[in-house]
Formats: sequence, structure tokens, C-alpha cells
Amino acid sequence: MYLLGYDLGTSSIKATLLDAQTGKVIASATSPQTEMPISSPQPGWAEQDPENWWQHVIAATQQISHTLGIDLKDVKALGIAYQMHGCVTVDKNLNPIRPAIIWCDSRCVEIGNRAFNEIGPEKCLKNLLNSPGNFTASKLKWIKDNEPDNFKRIYKMLLPGDFIALKLTGRCQTTSSGLSEGILWNFQTQSPAQMLLDYYGIPAEILPETVPVFSTQAELTTPAASQLGLTPGIPVAYRAGDQPNNALSLNVLEPGEIAATAGTSGVIYGLNDQPNYDPKSRVNTFVHVNHTPANPRYGVLLCVNGTGCLNSFLKRTIAADIDYSQMNELAAQVPVGSEGLSILPYGNGAERSLENLEIGASFHGLNFNIHDRRHILRAGQEGIVFALNYGLSVMKQIGIRIKTVKAGDANMFLSPVFASTFATLTGATVELYNTDGAQGAARGAGIGVGIYSCPQQAFAGLKTTRIIHPDSSKTAPCQEAYRRWFKILQKAMKEES
Ligand code: XUL
Repeated sequence: MYLLGYDLGTSSIKATLLDAQTGKVIASATSPQTEMPISSPQPGWAEQDPENWWQHVIAATQQISHTLGIDLKDVKALGIAYQMHGCVTVDKNLNPIRPAIIWCDSRCVEIGNRAFNEIGPEKCLKNLLNSPGNFTASKLKWIKDNEPDNFKRIYKMLLPGDFIALKLTGRCQTTSSGLSEGILWNFQTQSPAQMLLDYYGIPAEILPETVPVFSTQAELTTPAASQLGLTPGIPVAYRAGDQPNNALSLNVLEPGEIAATAGTSGVIYGLNDQPNYDPKSRVNTFVHVNHTPANPRYGVLLCVNGTGCLNSFLKRTIAADIDYSQMNELAAQVPVGSEGLSILPYGNGAERSLENLEIGASFHGLNFNIHDRRHILRAGQEGIVFALNYGLSVMKQIGIRIKTVKAGDANMFLSPVFASTFATLTGATVELYNTDGAQGAARGAGIGVGIYSCPQQAFAGLKTTRIIHPDSSKTAPCQEAYRRWFKILQKAMKEES
């Protein structure tokens, strides 16, 4: 009995086949092998073609069945994790009207700011726990204002994972967690955010039906089944944004627990049972996957857009001749603080933790007689940790305490420099696990379809791979380097605001 999980990332789609009883991974496949393109028709924009995502879902599934020779007829349920905050619009024939406006697109910052001020900060924060900001609802408003013909053709607005679910099942659906990531959820009324829809002049019918995160949401259609090589009628039984899903993957479901990722973006996601929020929306509060009105679970999310994408930029530009593990080895050859070189990693759109400023990435203190690419690689990794640490100070202000952080043993956490700088500077013990988003989505599907009677049963195969403790011998130089970096950040923010 198998479960199949998909993780729709920004750079690729991963599919993982899990044995439901043992919780062990049977096979995994990623498509494409290179990174999916992001088109940027204007500075600050970021778009992807939703049909291209679907083609890669098919390709990854076929890799599992054809290339790896595995029979998929025993798959009992499907789960989906997806890049958050995107805006996919489909017409009456369920075809995309325009490219998806994805999470790191910055075009709606002003629209969101205006909405926040005109609706009133107090009203927004009380009901939405956030400013409408640069999220999905504001992206829809941008289409309304700038592409009225497209707007008129919209039958439904979908989040990226809802679009993949649509391709699988033919149904337009979403979840309360999904609506919250688009700032389309009213936490007071526990229903879609009519007040923001009214303010933006968006008809409520554009929102799809809301289904529970863990449930038999809809069934695989015959045409989709034949494209994928699966059996028609299998339920899609789970969907969640990649960050709440990362938390689920790590069994982070209770208040006080913290999950992190360091993929394209870097995220710290802390659970709370109180609807706390940051009045400046530098960190955002969303509905967690296991939230119920009786047992509230809120995810407080800090995002640094420029994380793995800074590292992949450095690879493309100065380290194309080596692989990521060799880059990590080079970074480890120079001391903490990169001998005076600091990098601000903010080169991937408006940064929420900086109140949606777009300050760009930059190098500071570069000395031609001291530094070589090892310093640049290390300063890049340190800069990302520093940016996360800065955001953490905001999370602490709203009651998130960080003692232990759980993360998948993947992406930037594979770098000893990154993982150890993170633990040392934040003072947290980092527990790494043998999991990832696609595995989490498969486990979520097992919970949704009732194969597991409770989430805990779903984590049988989850194992700690490594534990990284703060290194007290490095605390002082780490803090010193962070202080230097922080001064540079403050100056850059002042210039930009
Ligand atoms: C989280 C966020 C990113 C995307 C990346 O709020 O915007 O982590 O979900 O896929």
C-alpha cells in the first residue's frame, strides 16, 4: 500500500512514493533536472507557467514508474505541497488565463500597503492577522486594475497547489490554510475574508470551495490517471503550502515547536495557539494544517526570499566548476566572519521581514588583497543566517521561543558552515531529519485518507539524522560578524525607505 506525495517547489517538482505501513521511501523523482524558469517581464515581477508545473508532475511520476520500474497501482492516496502565496487564474474551461504570479513577485506591495491603511491597520490585524501585503489577494487586485479583460474571464482563483489538484481531479478547491496564506481568511469569523474582497471589489465566487486540509478532497479523474499511470478514483487527501507542510513533515504540530527550511527561500515557522501577529507584518501568521476552532494552531512564518537562490546564484557565477558540497568545503576554509566580508542576501524581491522593502543583494567590505571566492561563499551563507536571525528577533517579540529547531537534512542545512552558524548565532539546537516536503505530503495524504488514525502514526519512518549544537567557542566571533552585518542592513534600509 503506497502513498504518493508531490512537492511543487519554485525550482522543480518532486514526487515521493512512500510505503504506508513502514513509512519508508520507496522511490523519489524530481523534474526538471535543471531549475524551472521564472520569467520576469518587468523588474520585480516573477511568473511561472502553471501548465509547465503539471508537465513536470507527470514527468516526475513517470520517472518513478518507468525509469525506476515501480507499479503504481497500489497507490492509495495523493498529497500535495506547494510554493505559497501564488495566484493562478483559470477560466470557465479550467484553463489558466495568464501565467501564475508567484510568491517572490513584488508588484503588489503598494496595493497591499494602501489596503492596509485604507481599511485600517487595527481592523486588518484583528481580522486577518496581517496586512494584505504582497500576497495572493493583492495579486488578484493587480490583475483587476491592470488586466481588466483577463480579470473578467476569471472563473476561479487558485493557489499553485490548488491548480495541481485541479489537474488531478477536475475540481477547484482550496483550504482555510491556503486562503490564510493569500490573506483571504478572516480569523475572527473563521470564513473567507469578505471585508478584503469587498474593499478590492473582487466577487466572492472567484474563490474556490473550501475543503479540510486532511480529507478525501476529490478523486483522480480518468484522463489524469492515464497521464500519470495511476488508477482513476484515488483520492487527493491532503494539500498544504510548502512551509506548513514542512512543519507537518517534521511532526511540528504543537505550540512551541519550530520548523525551518533553507531551500530557494529560508523559513522559520513557529507554532502558536494564540492568534498573535506582528503589527508590521514582518513575520506572518497563517492557519496551520491541524488548526481547528477548538484547538487553534497558528503558524508564525518568517521568510527570507534570498536563501538557496543566493547560493545557486553564487554557484552559477563563481563556482560553476564545482558542486554544492565542494562549495561548502571551500566556505569552511575561512574563519567565522569571512575576514570582514558581509553579504546582504536580499536579491529575490520584496522582503517581508524588511517591511517589503526591495533593497537587493550587496557585498560589503570586499578587499581584493584578502578575499577570494571562499570568502564570498562563506559570507553568502553567513548573510542568510544573519537575515534569519534578524527576523527571529521579530518572532520573539510575538511570543515565539526558539530552543530546538527541526529541519529536513537537505538544502543549505547540508552545509556545516550554514548549520553551525545558525545554531551558534540563534542559540538553538538544530535537529535534522530524513525527510522532505514530498514525503510530508505523502504522509499528509495517509492522514487525510484515514490510513493513519492520528498524525503521530504517520511519522513511523521519521528519523533524526544529525543534531547540531551551538558552538560556544564561535559565539563571540559570530555575534561580532552579525553586529557588523546588522549595521550594514540598517544603513541599506534607511537609504531605501
Ligand atoms: C513562504 C514563502 C516561500 C514560498 C516558497 O511564506 O513565501 O517559502 O512558499 O515556496
